[in-house]
Amino acid sequence: MREKLIEFLPEIKWIFDKKLQDAVIATYQETLQIAGLEVEDMKKVAFVWDNISNATFSYLDHVRVVTKMCKPILAEYNVSYAEKIGYSLDKLKYSLDHDTLIAGVILHDVGKLLEYELTPDGRTVESSLGKYLRHPISGAAVAFKNGVPANIIHIIATHSREGNGGYRSPEAIAVIKIDNMNFETIKSHSNIFL
Ligand SMILES: [Fe+2]
Repeated sequence: MREKLIEFLPEIKWIFDKKLQDAVIATYQETLQIAGLEVEDMKKVAFVWDNISNATFSYLDHVRVVTKMCKPILAEYNVSYAEKIGYSLDKLKYSLDHDTLIAGVILHDVGKLLEYELTPDGRTVESSLGKYLRHPISGAAVAFKNGVPANIIHIIATHSREGNGGYRSPEAIAVIKIDNMNFETIKSHSNIFL
């Protein structure tokens, strides 16, 4: 399953830290196993289960495009602020951490594979687990079990309304904004006003 996951989600290899790559892969493997899904089913599960779900984009489409959008934003942010304030080590606090952001965005919605389920006719609907545990909660739980560090679990746990009103790290803010931009623009293209 490991090779297949990397084939379907090659952005996993962007993560520099091999131990972190392994934790991300293990989290996907266990999530898919609990859900009774194969890797390729990530192309069948819709990226949301409400009335735009069965339209256009899959879970895999969504995670990959949001991940790909994070990469240039991260690079531009870090270069721009480094140029502005210089590269002295004490000023590096104004940078986004590469592996935290990339692992976080790859995992941010992994719990959707548990919150949603596929019907025999191929629609995506809310699962019985999803009724009680939305994806930020279930995703964080599986990630914790598989050794994902707390700063990355934090991104999973806070990237939706569950994180409102509390602390969000800079990388968590980047993920929620890019994720929302993706979701809101698709709704706008589709003339859906939820
Ligand atoms: Fe998302």
